[in-house]
Amino acid sequence: MSSRPELQAPPEIFYDDTEARKYTSSSRIAEIQTKLSERALELLALPDDGVPRLLLDIGCGSGLSGETITENGHQWIGLDISQSMLNVALEKEVEGDLLLGDMGQGLGLRPGVIDGAISISAVQWLCNADKSSHEPRLRLKAFFGSLYRCLARGARAVLQVYPENLAQRELILSYAMRAGFAGGVVVDFPHSTKSRKEYGLHFRQAQTEEKAENKQERQGQRMGVEEEGTDEKER
Ligand SMILES: C[S@@+](CC[C@H](N)C(=O)[O-])C[C@H]1O[C@@H](n2cnc3c(N)ncnc32)[C@H](O)[C@@H]1O
Repeated sequence: MSSRPELQAPPEIFYDDTEARKYTSSSRIAEIQTKLSERALELLALPDDGVPRLLLDIGCGSGLSGETITENGHQWIGLDISQSMLNVALEKEVEGDLLLGDMGQGLGLRPGVIDGAISISAVQWLCNADKSSHEPRLRLKAFFGSLYRCLARGARAVLQVYPENLAQRELILSYAMRAGFAGGVVVDFPHSTKSRKEYGLHFRQAQTEEKAENKQERQGQRMGVEEEGTDEKER
């Protein structure tokens, strides 16, 4: 059987009570997830002014990544699809507010309220269709669209992912771009199969950049209309 959890069962089934406890009590996993979370926070590049920010932890699991946010002095909201993972987080009395939800159906948060988002080892789950009603493209679209909307202007999202292949990485990135994000991918340890880690870096543009882009789009649309008109005349 594949060692990739995403290929074994849907997340809410894979991370049942037994797996959630096993995952959380492993010191090796805790060490890895903490390092990934610290790096994601570093890449989030929040202002170093001592002001606590409200961050979102997408696929927060039992709170290993969220605990790193707390240690860095920020508040957080964690969303996860596995009730068992969230139960362990509740038992540990993590500081974050926990939401049970499927990121593939959109995050359901109010627009512009989140100062930054991280996601550690979770977003690649969206590339699998676990139910006949699941279409990865639609789920990625709903996820990135809602992520873009809930972030404050100028805020970043840092998503550490384990794509199965190049096509998956491109698929995830293309939906981030379609939602309006600027950014790219940071790869740590690119030449090591074991230690290689990828972080999608997604920027919600500041208002001025958004305005300039919208203006360019409108101009492009006007040009499109004019071109269509020209075609009409030529026919
Ligand atoms: C490997 S765990 C990582 C948990 C946590 N971020 C950490 O670093 O320990 C992946 C998590 O993603 C969650 N997940 C997978 N698909 C999800 C979805 N569609 N919506 C919300 N959470 C999801 C799983 O339930 C699981 O808790």
